Amino acid sequence: MMGRTILNARVTFRSLPIHKLERFAIRDAGDACRQFKGRAGLDECVVIQTCNRTEIFGAASGYDRGSITSTWAGLSGADEGAFDGTVQFEEGRAACEHLLRLVSGLDSMVLGEEQILGQVRGSVAAAREAGASGARLDALFDGAIRAGARIRGSSGVGRGGVSVGSMAVRLAEENVDGLKSRRILLIGTGEVASLVAKSLKRRGYGFDVSSRTVSRSEAFCGAMGGTPARFEDVLGGFADYDVVFVATRAPYFLVTYDGIAGAMGGRDGMMIMDLSNPRTVDERVATIGGVKLMNLDQIAEMVEKNARARRSSAGAAEGMIGGGAAALEAAVLRVDAEPLAGQVFRDAEAVRRRELERALRALGGVDEGTARVIEEMSRSISEGIVAGPVGGIRRASERGRGHILDAAREIFGPG
Ligand SMILES: NC(=O)c1ccc[n+]([C@@H]2O[C@H](COP(=O)([O-])OP(=O)(O)OC[C@H]3O[C@@H](n4cnc5c(N)ncnc54)[C@H](OP(=O)(O)O)[C@@H]3O)[C@@H](O)[C@H]2O)c1
Repeated sequence: MMGRTILNARVTFRSLPIHKLERFAIRDAGDACRQFKGRAGLDECVVIQTCNRTEIFGAASGYDRGSITSTWAGLSGADEGAFDGTVQFEEGRAACEHLLRLVSGLDSMVLGEEQILGQVRGSVAAAREAGASGARLDALFDGAIRAGARIRGSSGVGRGGVSVGSMAVRLAEENVDGLKSRRILLIGTGEVASLVAKSLKRRGYGFDVSSRTVSRSEAFCGAMGGTPARFEDVLGGFADYDVVFVATRAPYFLVTYDGIAGAMGGRDGMMIMDLSNPRTVDERVATIGGVKLMNLDQIAEMVEKNARARRSSAGAAEGMIGGGAAALEAAVLRVDAEPLAGQVFRDAEAVRRRELERALRALGGVDEGTARVIEEMSRSISEGIVAGPVGGIRRASERGRGHILDAAREIFGPG
């Protein structure tokens, strides 16, 4: 039996190309948290899932990696063998370090991007709602989100609002001559589409926006800029556009080979950027003369190049990870001491109040000033006696010394 620990199991774009990650995706993260608790031996669980990662965070007293991957295989439909060499496991301090890198944007495809923070907060809320998260993971994530914000702020990583959207627009600028005079279409009205729209607007590009639901594209343009275009008209022929960004969750190809082949007659070029995972642009369009197709994998490559330029701020952020992770791990381990620490303080307080009342009764009507002095003295004695042992209990817990905690429970716990 192993000691209590925090663990992380993950499959991310670092170990697989993005389009292959889908195999490991879990459909219902809330339900998955419960399943990992029930079947894989975790006491608490949070599942974090974005288009470029699926990660399990757990608090456990005893678990085996095999039951994690078999539960995961059951939830995703992936073959159990596919996890070998693909899933990464980390425990304790290393798991805390990874979480800090994640929330600071250091493990993101787009270094320093901020969307991950919202995604982590959403995952924690889903786990709480499913009754799968508890005191230890609450302490872990609350502490990590606070530390992550500090690391971002003081290192400058992510300064300037980088995102998948801004990278996609930069990629278009690098690959299309005279982008300002080109006709640009954005398909989708979700989170990623908003990031693209924001970046287009900031750089002064005009663009059309199209989405399955007309009311959503109209509302989107009202808030983000751009001009709504009818979905059916757009999908019927892309002849009006030179650059197309696609960011939807459609489970099929919205942009087809025939649609693009038909639009290319008599024109020089078109760039299509598929930001969706799973892809929503048929890859065969890349074989049509004049069409340049790019997807998230190319963005990842660009980000690699871009990362070099940002290395100094990333370096400063990396330098803060180690100390932050040590404090985070200690905060999580301290959670185990809190029920006992609270009980010791409550017991002492009950004795103090009882004895104070008894003394005041025996003195029979003292003035307010005297009563305050006696009360303060009782408080100082009680806190002075209790603070030492409780500090010791907390320190033992922070250092993972479970046997000291067990002994303290015997000594101070209910008899
Ligand atoms: N979130 C990220 O950080 C991130 C990063 C990189 C890539 N991605 C990928 O980018 C894509 C979009 O993600 P998101 O977070 O922006 O999604 P989202 O906020 O949920 O928005 C989804 C969009 O997809 C559209 N859509 C859904 N089902 C559709 C269907 N059957 N046919 C046509 N349109 C459909 C929706 O249209 P309606 O307006 O009609 O509902 C909406 O515009 C996903 O494939 C995701 O994996 C996400």
